[in-house]
Amino acid sequence: MKKALITGITGQDGAYLSEFLLGKGYEVHGVVRRVALEDSEHRLWRIRHILDKVILHPASLESYASIFNVVEKVMPDECYHLAAQSYVDYSFGDEFSTFNTNINGTMYVISAIKEKVPNCKFYFAASSEMFGLAAQSPQNEKTQFHPRSPYGISKVAGFHITQNYREAYNIFACNGILFNHESPRRGFEFVTRKITNAVARIKLGLSRELKLGNLEAKRDWGFSGDYVEAMWLMLQQAKPEDYVIATGEAHSVKDFAKLAFSFVGLNWEDYVVVDETFYRPAEVTCLQGDYSKAKKELGWRPRVKFKDLVEMMVSADLERVKKMK
Ligand code: NAP
Ligand code: GDD
Repeated sequence: MKKALITGITGQDGAYLSEFLLGKGYEVHGVVRRVALEDSEHRLWRIRHILDKVILHPASLESYASIFNVVEKVMPDECYHLAAQSYVDYSFGDEFSTFNTNINGTMYVISAIKEKVPNCKFYFAASSEMFGLAAQSPQNEKTQFHPRSPYGISKVAGFHITQNYREAYNIFACNGILFNHESPRRGFEFVTRKITNAVARIKLGLSRELKLGNLEAKRDWGFSGDYVEAMWLMLQQAKPEDYVIATGEAHSVKDFAKLAFSFVGLNWEDYVVVDETFYRPAEVTCLQGDYSKAKKELGWRPRVKFKDLVEMMVSADLERVKKMK
């Protein structure tokens, strides 16, 4: 039985990836912060339904020793390094901890792999945020990076660390350059979930308005459940490479809000208020991915369409908020 180690198993992608790998017959191990084990009701909500099937190990991305111990104990065949401070806006407020978690944390994980289990295949969660102010659209694996946030910079560093371990030490290490992907398990601070949660609350009479920042920003939004399959496919290839994973379509925040409100029979303009405090010091105005390499080499393609993704998230939030009422 193959063993997979997932950092960030409690996050959106970690939960979908765990389900996916369990379905493939893997023994799934996850790195979690000790506080998560102490407050499992709140912090393990995304993997609550599979807690009896995965093996959790307390460790901290801030401590090389703790990461090393987990790697030594598990001796994984595949390692998916997903843990990160993943909220772009927050990274402007605390770039130091973002760099520490996202850059040093990545070094600790891949370095422990090199020392203890160099044949383990390694996946790094790189990001379309690395393209930032992109000189070309759509973006592919050859597009130059121009990050616009401390988060984006930290992911560029992680990308190069991963490439360097591949080139210098022959580690089977891949960068997945994933564009935005969402789901009913998305964190509430990200714009899609902020919108669908607000739509549900407004529809059920619990709220009256939704404050948003830049409505014109465009993103290439896909479904997290589709994207975790691409992570796995990258590690099943003959050679380690880097891949863009996207839908190829870009929609604005306004488009998302309009559609989400329309699913419950409401007009977005009656509820959405622009609040400049949600603007970012440097914005990424448009991201749109070209996933043709992944399509050709991995046989991967996105399944869930934009409209269905919005509907899935609104429906799930309506059900959840109804139960809480
Ligand atoms: P997420 O829901 O925010 O999950 C992040 C995970 O990282 C959580 O399990 C979190 O643990 C863990 N984590 C954060 N700080 C940590 C620390 N200091 N020590 C240990 N664990 C820590 O993110 P996601 O959407 O699943 O994304 C997964 C990865 O893909 C991230 O690296 C993200 O940057 C990257 N990515 C995401 C997208 C996207 O659109 N979703 C696109 C491109 C790249 P707690 O539960 O304990 O907080
Ligand atoms: N969060 C948020 N809240 N974003 C808003 C708001 C708001 O109220 N109003 C407008 N936006 C705009 C942001 O300015 C940004 O242009 C866009 O909505 C998307 O913001 P987020 O949902 O926070 O995602 P992100 O694109 O910054 O980052 C996500 O995708 C990256 C991949 O490109 C995260 O998942 C990152 O971890 C990931 O790497």
